[in-house]
Amino acid sequence: MTPRQLLPFVDQAHAGGRSSMTCLYRCGNACSHPVPNDSGNEHFEQVVARAVSRRSVLRAGAVGAAAAGVLGTTGWGAVSPAAAAPSARAGAAGGGPLSRFTGIAPTAATTDELVVPDGFNWAPIISWGDPVTRQAPDFDFDDQSVEAQRNQAGYNCDFTALLLDGRGRGGRSGVLAFNNEYTNDELMFRGVAGSADLSDDQLRIVMAAHGMTIVEVRRERPGAPWSYQQGGRRNRRLHSETEFAVDGPASGHDALKTSADPTGTKVLGTLNNCAGGVTPWGTVLSGEENFNQYFDTTGALDPDLHLKRYGITSAGRGWERVDPRFSVATEPNEVNRFGWIVEVDPQDPTSTPVKHTALGRFKHEGATIRLADDGRAVAYMGDDERNDYIYKFISRKKHKPGNLKHNLTLLSEGDLYVAKFTGDGSDDGLYDGSGVWLPLVVNGTSHVSGWTVEEVLIWTRQAADLVGPTKMDRPEDVEANPVTGKVYAALTNNSARQPGQVDEANPRGPNKHGHVIEITERRNDAGALTFAWQLVLIAGDPTDPSTYFAGYDRNQVSPISCPDNVTFDKAGNLWISTDGMPGTLGFADGLYMLPLEGRERGKLKQFLSVPVGAECCGPVISGDERTVLVAVQHPGEVSGASPDNVVSNFPYLGDNQPRPGIVQVYRE
Ligand code: FEO
Ligand code: CA
Ligand code: CA
Repeated sequence: MTPRQLLPFVDQAHAGGRSSMTCLYRCGNACSHPVPNDSGNEHFEQVVARAVSRRSVLRAGAVGAAAAGVLGTTGWGAVSPAAAAPSARAGAAGGGPLSRFTGIAPTAATTDELVVPDGFNWAPIISWGDPVTRQAPDFDFDDQSVEAQRNQAGYNCDFTALLLDGRGRGGRSGVLAFNNEYTNDELMFRGVAGSADLSDDQLRIVMAAHGMTIVEVRRERPGAPWSYQQGGRRNRRLHSETEFAVDGPASGHDALKTSADPTGTKVLGTLNNCAGGVTPWGTVLSGEENFNQYFDTTGALDPDLHLKRYGITSAGRGWERVDPRFSVATEPNEVNRFGWIVEVDPQDPTSTPVKHTALGRFKHEGATIRLADDGRAVAYMGDDERNDYIYKFISRKKHKPGNLKHNLTLLSEGDLYVAKFTGDGSDDGLYDGSGVWLPLVVNGTSHVSGWTVEEVLIWTRQAADLVGPTKMDRPEDVEANPVTGKVYAALTNNSARQPGQVDEANPRGPNKHGHVIEITERRNDAGALTFAWQLVLIAGDPTDPSTYFAGYDRNQVSPISCPDNVTFDKAGNLWISTDGMPGTLGFADGLYMLPLEGRERGKLKQFLSVPVGAECCGPVISGDERTVLVAVQHPGEVSGASPDNVVSNFPYLGDNQPRPGIVQVYRE
C-alpha cells in the first residue's frame, strides 16, 4: 500500500520512546522526573551476583558474547528453541482463524497511514467529537463548546471494550466502551502553545474530553463492519463532572474528605483512564493512571511524602483556574480521590460508576479479572511507573454467575497483594524463577507494620515499599490467557534502570524496548499466593542479541518495542499493542500476534501499524475472530504539529484535523 504522506522528520523522542509532545500531555513528562520510588527495595543484587558467577560457567561452554546489562544475554538470550519451553511445546494448540494472516512489514514512523494485512480492510467506528447523545451537535473543530464535548466522544482513546448483546440478536448489536485518557491542548485548538494559553471555556472543554465514552453499535451480520448509533439507549459520556461513588474500606476516610464532599464518598470525574478490562459479570474496569499531572502543587505541603511518591509535584495543567479542587494547597485531599480502579456498568446508563478503594491507589494502568478455582474474583494490576510494582486483589466473596447485583459487590472487599519475583539463575538458559504475592491487606487486616488498612489502600505505593516487592520496568497491562490461565504482564520499558540494577525478571538496564513476563500461578489457580514465572518476549530488533522471542528463531520474527496493551484471541494467542516504537526503532507503533503454545510459540508477527504520531491501544479480538478493534491514540502528535500544521489527517474523513478514535479491521 502506498503511504499517504512521507514527512521529512521524525520527532525527537524522549526516553520512553514517545514524542516530546506526547510525553508532556500523556504523562506530564514522567520519564524526565526523578523516579518516585526511592525506597530501599533491592534490585536483587544477590541474584545478579549468583547469576554472574554461574555465567562464567556458561562462558566456559562457549556461549556467545554478552550484550547490554550485567546479566546481558549470555546464558539466556542464546537459548535454543528446544530448551525454551518444552512443556508448552507438547501438543499445544495455537492457531485460530484470525492467526493465519500474513504479517506486515514494519512501517516507517513518518507514514500517515493505517496499514493492515493483505485481505483485510479497516474503517473508523467513532472518533473524537462524534455525537454520542441524542442532543449532541455534529463535531465542528472551530466551534467547540463544553456542552457539546460533554455529549460527544471524548479525546484520546485507550482501553476499548466491545460487549455483544445476548442471544437472539445474532451478534449484530452491542455496546462499545472506551477510555478517554488525556487531551492535547495544542492539537485541540488553534493558536494554543500550552495550557497557559487556554481560555476558561477551553479549559472546561479539555476537562470534559477526559473520561469514558459508551455507545451502542450495530452491524448487518456477523463479520460485517460495525457502526455506532447516536442517541442509543445506553449511550453515555463520563466526564469531569460525572459523579462517582467511592466504596470499599477507605470510603469516607478523612483523607478523602473535601469541602465539596465532607463525606469522602463522592467524586466528580475520572482522570487519565488508561487500560482496563471486562469483568466476567459484564462490567468495565478502567485504571486512573497519570492523575498526578492535573494538580497544581504550588504551595502544597508534603510532610509524609505522599505527593512525592506519586509524582504529584508539578504546577498542573491550569485546571485550578476554573476549578479550585485542582490546587493541592487549596484542597489537599482532592488528589487522594484519583488513582483508583473504576467500575462502570455499560448496560445501565443511569448507574453510578464506582471507585474501588479495596484495589489500592497507584498509577493504575488497568485491571483484569480471572476467577479463582473457588469462584473468588482476582484482579491483576500494574502500576505504570519506572521501578514500581505488580499487584493482585482477591475478592472476599465468590462470583455468582448471572447475579449482577451480587457480583457488583465483589471488588468492594478483599485482599491486596504485591508481587516479588526471584530468579533461579542462568543455569537453565531461561529468564525464569519463582514468585510470591506479598500480603498488604488480608481478611480486613493490614500486613504493613504501623499502617491501617485505609492507609495501605490510599498510599499503596508507600505501603508496598515496606514489604519488599520487585521493582519492575513500568508494568502496563496484566491479563490472564483465557485458554491456559497463565497471566501475562507487559513491561513497557525503563529508562531509569541502571546496569547494576538488573535482575532476572528485568534483565536489561536501561531497558529501552521492554519485555513480557508469563506468570503461572501455583496449581494454575488465580487464588494462589505463589507462582512460577518466565520471560516470553524481550523486545527489540531481532538482530539485537539481547532480544528473546520465547526461543523462536530470531530470523523469522518481527521487530517490536514498548509492549503496552495485551489481549488474547480464542486460541490463546497473545496480541500486543505498542507505545513508543517511533522513538526506539523508527517504526510506527502497531499490533502484533505472539503464539504462546505449540511449535510456533514465539513466532511474533505484526498485524497492523497506526499513523504517524499515534500509539496503538485497546486491542479487541471479537468473539467471532473476524474483526479486530484498536484505539488509535494521539494521531499526528509530533512536536511542532498544530491545527495549522497537521502531520496526520487520520481518520481521513475529509476533515483536515487528526482525530483520535476507534477503528475496526475486518476481512475484505
Ligand atoms: Fe497510559 Fe501506562 O500507559
Ligand atoms: Ca533461569
Ligand atoms: Ca497503556
